[in-house]
Order: sequence, then C-alpha cells, then structure tokens
Amino acid sequence: MMQISVRVSRFNPETDAEPRLETWTVEVEEGARVLNVLDAIHARDPTLAYRSSCRAGQCGSCAVRVNGEPVLACTQEAWDGMIIEPLDLPVIRDLLVDLVAGISQIPRIHTSACGIVPKQEVIAQIKPLRDCIECLSCVSICPAMKVTEFLGPTSMRSQMRIALDPREPGNRIREAISQGLFTCTSCNRCWRVCPKDIEIPGKAIEKLREIANREGLTLPRHQEVAALVRTTGRSVEPGKHIFLDLVDEVIEPYGEVRREVGFFSGCMFNARLPERALDMLEVMRHAGIRVIIPKEQICCGSPLIRTGQTSFLDEIKERNIRAFQDRGITTVMTMCAGCGATLKHDYETPFEVKDVSEVLTETGLPPLTQVPVTATYHDLCHLMNGQQITTQPRKILTRAVERFVEMPAQCCGSGGGVRSGLPDEAAALGELRRAAINATGADIVVTICPFCEYHIQEHSDRPVMNLMTVLVQALGLKPATL
Ligand code: FES
Repeated sequence: MMQISVRVSRFNPETDAEPRLETWTVEVEEGARVLNVLDAIHARDPTLAYRSSCRAGQCGSCAVRVNGEPVLACTQEAWDGMIIEPLDLPVIRDLLVDLVAGISQIPRIHTSACGIVPKQEVIAQIKPLRDCIECLSCVSICPAMKVTEFLGPTSMRSQMRIALDPREPGNRIREAISQGLFTCTSCNRCWRVCPKDIEIPGKAIEKLREIANREGLTLPRHQEVAALVRTTGRSVEPGKHIFLDLVDEVIEPYGEVRREVGFFSGCMFNARLPERALDMLEVMRHAGIRVIIPKEQICCGSPLIRTGQTSFLDEIKERNIRAFQDRGITTVMTMCAGCGATLKHDYETPFEVKDVSEVLTETGLPPLTQVPVTATYHDLCHLMNGQQITTQPRKILTRAVERFVEMPAQCCGSGGGVRSGLPDEAAALGELRRAAINATGADIVVTICPFCEYHIQEHSDRPVMNLMTVLVQALGLKPATL
C-alpha cells in the first residue's frame, strides 16, 4: 500500500459560488489509478460526485483533468501531489460535468435500407474513426470551440466516418462546413488528449476539407494561398529580404565541426522573418554545427495539407526531398514547427527530421550569459502536439534567461489557415493569449514559430521574441537586423 495526498475540486452549485480545491490523504495500492483514489475519498466522504462505469477505459464516463490534462480516471496512474479537476465543461457537481449536451450534438449516420455492404478497405478506413468513446476530452480542450460555434473535434470525426460510409444516402459536406469545419486551427490538442489516440485533425478534418475542396467549397483566402504556392513555390509574398538569397549554401562553425545538418527554412523565415533564421545560424556557428542550406527548397506544403488542397502536393514533396537527398544530408533541421511537423508526419523522408531545439539540446549549447529578464514560453501547437516536444525549448530557455515562468499551453489562433481565412476567430484566440501572458507577469514571451510570433505580437502587451534571438543575446551578441 502507499499513502498519497491529492487535491480534488469540489463544487456544489446550490451552496458554492465557485469551485475550491480540497486536500485528501488516502491509502491506495501501489500502481493505483486516479479512480481508485476517488473511490478511497468517496469511502470517507460519500458526497464526492464523480462518474465511472466500465472501469476499463471503454465507456469514457470517468474523464477528468489531472494537473490540467484530460485523462481517463480509470486508466491514469495516480501520483502524490496531483490535482484532480473536472473537464473544462459545464460542471454539475464536483467532478461531474454535463456530457449530454456535447454527446447529443454529435452527427449520426442516416443509414438507408438499400442493402449496401461497405467494402473491406472502406471498413478499415472507418474503423479508427469509430473508436471514439465519447468522453468529450477533445471537446473540453478545443480552442476553436471557446470562441466560435464549432461543433467540435468528435463531431468532425463523426462527419468523416459518415462521409466514408456508402450506406449514408446524402452528402453532408455543407453540413460539416456549417458546423465549423474551417474553424479548426489544426492545433492537434484533440489528438493528444484522446484516450483512443484518434488523429482527428489529420484523419478527419483535413480529409473533410479535401472533400470540400473537390466540391469548390474551399475558403477564397485559402484558394489564393494555394495559387501562390502553385505559381511561386511559396505560401507568402516575398518581403524586402529573402533568407535564401542572403546566405551561402554552407555555413561553417567558428571552431571544430561537431555536427552537420541541412536547414529547411520554411516560407515565413525565408520571406517574412529572415532575421530570426540569421540569428539561428549565428547560434549554430557558436555551437559547432555546420549548416547546409539547399537553395532549391520550396514550401513544405503544410498550408495546402491543412486546408485540404493536396492536388499538387506530391511534386512539392519530391522537390524538397531531392534538394536534401542530392547533397547526402542525413539530418534536416527545421525551425518552423509547422514545417517540422509536416516533414515528420506528411512526408516519407530518406533523412531524419529534427527541430532546432532537438539539435541544440543533443549537440550542446555554447557558453551563455543569462539575459536579465523574466521570460515565459508559448508552446507552439505544431511542436508540442505535432512533434511532442516540450522539454527541449524549456531547457534552452532556462539556460538563456535569468528567470522563467510557466504559462498554460493554448493555441494562439494562427494555425490551420484560421489567421488567413477567419481572422476574427484568430483574433479572439489571440486575446485569450494576451490574458494568459499578462497573468504570468513575465517581461517577454518566447516562442520559435514564425506564425505564433507574428500573431501573438498583435495580441500581447509584452515583446515576443524568438528563442534563437534570446540565445544570440545570451551569447553577448546583437540580434540580426536587415
Ligand atoms: Fe469507463 Fe473509465 S470508467 S472509461
């Protein structure tokens, strides 16, 4: 047996103005689950309200938040000091939330009695989308649902399952669009919290957007971006300075060569924020890393994939892969998290792909003098959820600044084509970031993603800095200016 102390949210709407955390110390078996802890508390206080049924990860009824993360109480191992709260949904009492409202909105198939039997390959495609246990963990964390009427990730999952099923008599793509198909920011949080590991953005939302594209229903602004990629190879108009024109193909380090990487610049660092990429190169030179920059590289295709416009994606992939493969590059480094997630998940590459924070933590940072500021870090969705990288940027940042404060992670609203296609939604999510940043009391906000940097800058009272620029300052140098 082991003794653990936990804090549990208590709330009785008849008597309490707001929830409060109650501390309990209980004895449970080694390896106990969160549900066992709740049972032990309930044995001493039968008024604690929580839900469970199958106790085996199959019914979805027991979902709660542990230290802010949605989990199934019956499968999540308990630990000393954890905080157990209800999902971020309307609370009925204590850990009980209203699931009925969310579940009743999930679209259901209208099967016709036509005797059609789906083929095996269709069943195989549908199966992963049917694994949902309707715990609503994804709904509880969806940023788009906080600021729009989006019906939510699991509703889009269901729409895609319906779209694949030949027994569904109608075409419901317009219905999915009216339910908010284009409001998803592709942050991938729904996938990361899903106890059944359903890749809703990639396997449902982007696929539905492909269907919408085939029917001419893509948002006009997204069509413009696709046309730009088709004609120029880039997803943004060129700025005054182009990174690939400013640098040599091979950048040698100042001292001994400790590692060699190829650099995939991405459209934003190439044409909008080349100074940040120049800062990165300075850091690499001090860290002993040779950087090879093939000039033939073009857009990774992420803006096309996220918006369902994939008709010429294969040509893009082939050209990018060839640019690095022809030079015998074995590690391609990305600095834009969206490019990194795309190269890792949407390509089949003959080389490994690593984020700049992975490369630097693996190779080791050069000697730094901590910058005298308090910094907070904005987790980039395509790094945190798309590549599951959270510790490396923090390791670097805490070495580079004197003080670091955490900020709860949430999408800033700039991804998934939302900033370009639905700017009001992007702005509303940006304002939520403003409140979160101000609550930290930090002097600066640090991120790596160019999209986040651009967007948060418009919604922050504090300066937003790229991690590479902070490192340049910690090296005692001036950040690049053009
Ligand atoms: Fe059924 Fe946890 S009790 S999933």
